Amino acid sequence: MWTGGFILLLLALTLQVIVCVKQRNSETVYQWKQLVYGFPTEQDRQEALANGNLVPANGIPIDVAPHQQSQKGSRVFITIPRFQTGIPYTLATVSDSNEANGPVLIPYPNYTWHNANGEDCNKITSAFRVAITECNQMFVIDSGVIGTTQNCPPQLLIFDLNTDTLAHRYRFEGNMYVPVASLLITPLVVVHDPPPKGRCQRLHVYIADVTHHGLVIYDSESNSAWRAENKFMYPDPDYGTHTIARESFILMDGMFALATDHRQLYFHPLASNSEYAVPLSVLNNRTNWDGNMEAMQNEFRMVGKRSSECAAEAMDSQRNLYCVTFNPIKLIRWNPYNVKNEIEVPADPRLLEFVSGMKVYKNGSGKEELWMISNRYQKIAAGTLSDREINFRVVRRPLDDIQAQNIPTPNQDLSQRLIFS
Ligand SMILES: *[C@@H]1O[C@H](CO)[C@@H](O)[C@H](O)[C@H]1NC(C)=O
Ligand SMILES: *[C@@H]1O[C@H](CO)[C@@H](O)[C@H](O)[C@H]1NC(C)=O
Ligand SMILES: *[C@@H]1O[C@H](CO)[C@@H](O)[C@H](O)[C@H]1NC(C)=O
Repeated sequence: MWTGGFILLLLALTLQVIVCVKQRNSETVYQWKQLVYGFPTEQDRQEALANGNLVPANGIPIDVAPHQQSQKGSRVFITIPRFQTGIPYTLATVSDSNEANGPVLIPYPNYTWHNANGEDCNKITSAFRVAITECNQMFVIDSGVIGTTQNCPPQLLIFDLNTDTLAHRYRFEGNMYVPVASLLITPLVVVHDPPPKGRCQRLHVYIADVTHHGLVIYDSESNSAWRAENKFMYPDPDYGTHTIARESFILMDGMFALATDHRQLYFHPLASNSEYAVPLSVLNNRTNWDGNMEAMQNEFRMVGKRSSECAAEAMDSQRNLYCVTFNPIKLIRWNPYNVKNEIEVPADPRLLEFVSGMKVYKNGSGKEELWMISNRYQKIAAGTLSDREINFRVVRRPLDDIQAQNIPTPNQDLSQRLIFS
């Protein structure tokens, strides 16, 4: 009797320990009033200023990706797409040196790689977002667009982060995009033969075309690409006007954010409150798409609706999907995916005004962290951005507290399950 009671008590205590995990906070890693561009030499800076390649007010950071490797240490990559001219480089790492407006950026892989005027398509024209794999490779999607001019075909660049050299380049052919109408913005990589056993030779890259509403699929084995389109990739005008921190703007962006659990591709347009999915096996079979980009319609499904629109998304190894809703600003965790199960992760909304880039990163101790970059797009759209305020932030949030919660089963009231102490 006594032993049984003791074991019950022990069990109860253990459950308490499992459920009540110390709540983690979001931490600002970097912040800028305005981006601070470092140059190899003072002469390079003066030249960039003189020829219009450096207009300090022009850069908006869109994506972030942390990486750690024994020789290179910890590095954080940032993309600065060329929405306009005056941006001296579009892919950078963040240095430890600080100036009044924030930490100084360093061009990646080096300054001469950057195609300021769109004249050399072997360089980087406009890096939109990146994906870093378990193979120490960084996949960069370069839209080829400066402002509204398609200066170069879009390309996928693969950098070896051990040597910081180009490992592979794939230029998209004319049937994968419509110049200017298309904008390739988000790469998601699935490696089929990861280390330590695999050799990182077999992978697929899924790339969102935000303005021509499609998905480009790149296959490393055949070094070729194909395209899939579906009605779910289009923006919904009912969600085309967005409000963030009491400022409204219209942005009819379609196919925007991608995530995967290695079985399904999850995606959503920006102007939408729905999340959709399609099996990877359907996307990966090129035969399905030969001759008909709009094939396989029954394979696409809506997985759920959110309370509000969100931009970037990311999924952790427990299939929790994260994104930051616009109105109100909430970091949410979704699993499974419907409004009832949308769980707010406590976070300061002032740090997360428009999260355009988000990654789940496994840190040096093997624990997953959520990395986000926020850029107050609502102020950019309204022309109310002020360089006297902090406008751009890189924010990190450990996920171990969230992941220590039991995986919920459908129909449970999850608000009761996520107990922070
Ligand atoms: C920049 O990188 C390119 C290609 O890797 C290389 O040829 C060039 O020497 C580098 N330039 C500088 C200044 O390091
Ligand atoms: C690929 O799709 C085609 C039909 O579109 C089908 O006949 C074929 O079996 C599929 N291949 C695989 C490996 O699933
Ligand atoms: C990784 O994250 C865990 C949990 O948040 C933390 O305790 C640990 O110090 C982190 N390790 C590194 C190397 O950052």
